[in-house]
Amino acid sequence: METAQPATGDTGAAPDVSRKINYLALNREFTAGVMGPAVSALTPERDGPWRVLDAGTGTGGALPELIELARGSGGSVLAVDLDADAAEVARTLAVTLDAGDLAEVRVADLREVVREARASGELFDVIWAADVVWPAAFGDPDAVVAELAGVLAPGGVLGLFTANYYQSMFLPGHSRLERLIRTASELTWGIPSDGPAHYERLGAWMRQAGLEDVRLRVLPVAGPMTDPVVRGYVEQIVWPEMRHAVAARGRAAGMNDDDVARAGELLDPDSPTYAGRDPDGYAVAPMLLWTGTAARRA
Ligand SMILES: C[S@@+](CC[C@H](N)C(=O)[O-])C[C@H]1O[C@@H](n2cnc3c(N)ncnc32)[C@H](O)[C@@H]1O
Repeated sequence: METAQPATGDTGAAPDVSRKINYLALNREFTAGVMGPAVSALTPERDGPWRVLDAGTGTGGALPELIELARGSGGSVLAVDLDADAAEVARTLAVTLDAGDLAEVRVADLREVVREARASGELFDVIWAADVVWPAAFGDPDAVVAELAGVLAPGGVLGLFTANYYQSMFLPGHSRLERLIRTASELTWGIPSDGPAHYERLGAWMRQAGLEDVRLRVLPVAGPMTDPVVRGYVEQIVWPEMRHAVAARGRAAGMNDDDVARAGELLDPDSPTYAGRDPDGYAVAPMLLWTGTAARRA
């Protein structure tokens, strides 16, 4: 599943992704604390050098950690993203990390990269995809996981990470309203509310792809709204996205007049009851890492 992307406008039924780079930067700061533990869980069953794929790198949310992983094994990283602006930020990040020689950042569809790897036989020891494989991006997310699994070297590891946006707490003390807003947000993305393509089936897709030792880890991020990183992410990304979701699909999600008005009060920075004025506000995101290993060939 993917973290919902920025939504700043208050009209239209679709998600607003107009501030994507800002979203990616703030998301990277918010998730930074768990990227080290997450990436260190990716241990292929063979000695290096490891070839690492960062599929849908965005602005390089885990690129520093993936570069360290590759560097430690004497290997290399290929980071790809469809979005040229995001890839440019990731490329600059790699240069800043003095990784120009071992990290390549490419503007590409990850499926094209998979096709190339299959054709060339140059497989990956580690594949990382964070908030990329979900039904808003791919109509057949299970097939995408199978494709990624198919270009793992024997004993290689696939890591599917999600910030678990829809199971997080961003409006503590307003749980019913937050549940309704989440539903409205899901509706803006047009994603299924259950079934085989639901975004919470990352582990199932890995098992179906034939991966072994499929494991789930929970990596929580939590903090008070007085923390500038938490505040920046919640105020600039989450709450604007919620405002948009309420305006766009709140009624379809079951919100009544009072719910819409209350959400407006809580999410409007100019309102006297703005949630950001609560001195005890906080956020909790139980982020998830699924890992699975490709069979070693006999
Ligand atoms: C929510 S962002 C996550 C970025 C990054 N993994 C992170 O955790 O910060 C999802 C990214 O996947 C990229 N993406 C979506 N579909 C893709 C595809 N078919 N091939 C490559 N990148 C893709 C988007 O452009 C976007 O940058």
